[in-house]
Amino acid sequence: MNNNQPIGVFDSGIGGTSIWKAIHQLLPNEQTIYLADSKNAPYGQKTKAEIIALSMKNTDYLLSLGCKLIVVACNTATTNAIKELREKYEVPFIGIEPAIKPAALHSKTQTIGILATQGTLNSELFNKTVEMYQETKIIEQIGHGLVQLIESGKINSPDMTQLLNDYLQPMIEANIDYLVLGCSHYPYLIPQIKNILPPHIQIIDSGEAVAKQTQHVLKEKVGLSNLEHSQTIFYTNTNPKVLDDILANRYQIVQKEF
Ligand code: DGL
Repeated sequence: MNNNQPIGVFDSGIGGTSIWKAIHQLLPNEQTIYLADSKNAPYGQKTKAEIIALSMKNTDYLLSLGCKLIVVACNTATTNAIKELREKYEVPFIGIEPAIKPAALHSKTQTIGILATQGTLNSELFNKTVEMYQETKIIEQIGHGLVQLIESGKINSPDMTQLLNDYLQPMIEANIDYLVLGCSHYPYLIPQIKNILPPHIQIIDSGEAVAKQTQHVLKEKVGLSNLEHSQTIFYTNTNPKVLDDILANRYQIVQKEF
């Protein structure tokens, strides 16, 4: 393994690019390879066994491209499969989980909202975290349909506005002061969410925390790149149009079966 090998990042689709952006910003010298498994999105309604199998398939592909560390840029895959991934492979994994802790610690109303996939909210890992914050009322909402709309390029659509209204109004009525975005696709909805939430409600996602953790593990265990110019390649197994749009047409995208 040499320090200039790439970091591999995968998600069920285009959402994990929100995490990739935070990593690329903090670690601009690192080479990165991003896998958008959009053909199999959404992961959120799949069984744990299916999510594990897809996560292993993505990992195998990233390892075949020589990745030195893998970022699971998907809450659903992390909460359902990271234990199995760490057991099977020697490469270090960084996962992403809903940021319950900072929200629960800072909430003044002791009521927080979380929007995430069914797979994340039903997972053992997520429920263990929730048990640690029994003083806080946690309002859980499955974001049915949101990932499908994002994957089909309909971020700014009346359907999206309708779904977000349906999911967020009950949280506003319950007096939340923090909303945790527990899916890496949802940061792309922040402008729309801000139009619905009163301004005192803070929105939290985990992108920066994942980037910092990636930096820490690279320093401690793997080694940082010393390249002056890094390269990123995005792979998708569907039509690249929506991915290209979300990346503002700035990066190389390769359409491939994996
Ligand atoms: N982006 C993913 C997450 O963070 C999964 C969305 C999905 O495929 O359902 O949970």
